[in-house]
Amino acid sequence: MQLPFRSFILTACGVMLWASQAPAQTPRWTIGMSQCNLGEPWRVQMNADIKKAAEGHPEIRVIFKNAQNDNLRQSAHVGEFVRQKVDLIIISPKEAAPLTNPVADAYRNGIPVIVLDRRVLGDAYTCFIGADNKKIGRAAGKWIADVLKGKGTIVELKGLMTSTPGQDRHSGFREGIAGSGVSVVFEADMKWLEPNARRETESALARFPKITLVYAHNDPGAHGAYLAAKAAGREQQIAFVGIDGMPHEGQMYVRQGILSASFEYPTGGREAVSTALDILNGKKVPKELTLPSRIFTRANIDRGGEWLKE
Ligand code: FRU
Repeated sequence: MQLPFRSFILTACGVMLWASQAPAQTPRWTIGMSQCNLGEPWRVQMNADIKKAAEGHPEIRVIFKNAQNDNLRQSAHVGEFVRQKVDLIIISPKEAAPLTNPVADAYRNGIPVIVLDRRVLGDAYTCFIGADNKKIGRAAGKWIADVLKGKGTIVELKGLMTSTPGQDRHSGFREGIAGSGVSVVFEADMKWLEPNARRETESALARFPKITLVYAHNDPGAHGAYLAAKAAGREQQIAFVGIDGMPHEGQMYVRQGILSASFEYPTGGREAVSTALDILNGKKVPKELTLPSRIFTRANIDRGGEWLKE
């Protein structure tokens, strides 16, 4: 009785040894990831988060494509993924309207599509993942109205208004400040880009001798505004608030005293990979996954910020 058992153990060990020395598993599934641009640190972080999450899963491989902020190029990338017959597509679209049909075509071709961060129109996709931009905008508005004690003149630097986070961060913010007495004296679409934010702030500074606060829809925008104010020698009289809250960007600016607050906008990269795995393994996933967000201020940054409530 003892011998066969021993030889069973030896064989089992041998198999385990063989398995650990076997060449890496060939991926069973290919995921196409279409990123709208890689010119902004937040998007580089999203791709890094996806890559890191995918590394633990040899059954998948991810092909990344960068649309360089061009809707047409991004549409073409989605078409290429369909023709390649990838098993799943993750897309972080530049703008809602131009990417709606390419996403719907892929979805109707039977390829599951995860839409990440910015939305498309309608519901022809498998799952949307992102934080609640309206809630973030509203929280920013309430926080600003509160710290300014209901009075002050504000510059609002909007994200690309043909993308859904820009629209929601704007309408949420207006709800947040409604009835408070603070007023928006200047608003401009800086299209998420720091150099545009800097230029728009230069115009605002030239027109308004008194600006209390700049609310920018992302941290690069808030930083661009700060640089413009600094060049004009007015950065001490103005407060700056942004959104994204990445450790090496928004959180760092808060620590340095450049921003008064930054609201976290998680990239969703990790959640996109786990949702993709669920879909590929035949599990049912929700149509929408809403990620939580924190506010970072000078007062709370050392304890990791504070979660937004509603
Ligand atoms: C990067 C970015 C982020 C912003 C997000 C919104 O392209 O502008 O700063 O939070 O897109 O989609």
